[in-house]
Amino acid sequence: MNKIKKIGIIGAGNMGEALISGFLKSKIFSPQDVYASEIIEKRRKYITDNYHIESFDDTKKLVERSDLIIISVKPHNVKDVLESIRDNITPEKILVSIAAGIKLDFIRKNLPEGIPIIRVMPNIACFVREGMIAICPSDNTPKEKLEAVKEVLSILGRTIILDEKYFDAVTGLVGSGPAYIYLIIEALSDAGVRLGLPRDIAITLSAQTILGAGKMVLEINEHPAKLKDMVVTPGGTTIEGLLEMERGRVRATIIDAVIKATERAKELSKA
Ligand SMILES: NC(=O)c1ccc[n+]([C@@H]2O[C@H](COP(=O)([O-])OP(=O)(O)OC[C@H]3O[C@@H](n4cnc5c(N)ncnc54)[C@H](OP(=O)(O)O)[C@@H]3O)[C@@H](O)[C@H]2O)c1
Repeated sequence: MNKIKKIGIIGAGNMGEALISGFLKSKIFSPQDVYASEIIEKRRKYITDNYHIESFDDTKKLVERSDLIIISVKPHNVKDVLESIRDNITPEKILVSIAAGIKLDFIRKNLPEGIPIIRVMPNIACFVREGMIAICPSDNTPKEKLEAVKEVLSILGRTIILDEKYFDAVTGLVGSGPAYIYLIIEALSDAGVRLGLPRDIAITLSAQTILGAGKMVLEINEHPAKLKDMVVTPGGTTIEGLLEMERGRVRATIIDAVIKATERAKELSKA
């Protein structure tokens, strides 16, 4: 049985809210099982009003009550958070950080010895329990604690355990990824509007098309190029569209975007 009964989220911003939403939507965790600590009062009120969870203005009570503590503040605030929890965190608890570019080693150096630390890179789709979540444990994380965290994070989407050396790339691909896709959905729906479709219908058509295409890749387990060929009739409509995408260097632009985001994640880890 999973020993993680109470989860505390430090930093209830965009990603913190996505985690809270996902855990509560699952009904596996109820509002009594999830805590948030957040320094912005307006944000605390918003979280309490919308999710009916207890939220605090400091981290002390949250750490005392939680089995799993998730740091979800901006990377430059992580050091302050570690300082605020170092005196009351104990080795029975588990610490997860989702901050881009913050390495396990940095967290370990700023906490007492023996605390199990797990670096995680999720994405915003945890909000609706369709996140992609990469997990890397510190060397001192007991196997059963890693398994418990993996099980809990699986509530929020698909999980994968990965070596930390991949985390900058995962940040550029998975963490930032939904933003690229939202831009593509917006562009597809602009096309729909340009062609006379009402905006709301164009957005639904575009988003469901992306969802369906992604689901086929995951469920049919074929290379995307092969799935693409299933749509392309010789001399038909799709090849015309694809040719235009190639002229616009869409493929190279997407590759470059992920590389740039990865470079930024690397910079953050040096800061
Ligand atoms: N957004 C994403 O899609 C995404 C995806 C993967 C990973 N992440 C990672 O998740 C982390 C949070 O990102 P975000 O987009 O959710 O940022 P965000 O919206 O700025 O949320 C962070 C929240 O934490 C608050 N905060 C700062 N210091 C605090 C403290 N000591 N105690 C409690 N609350 C504190 C912030 O207040 P202030 O604004 O005053 O600092 C803010 O409200 C980042 O490290 C990011 O790299 C984000």
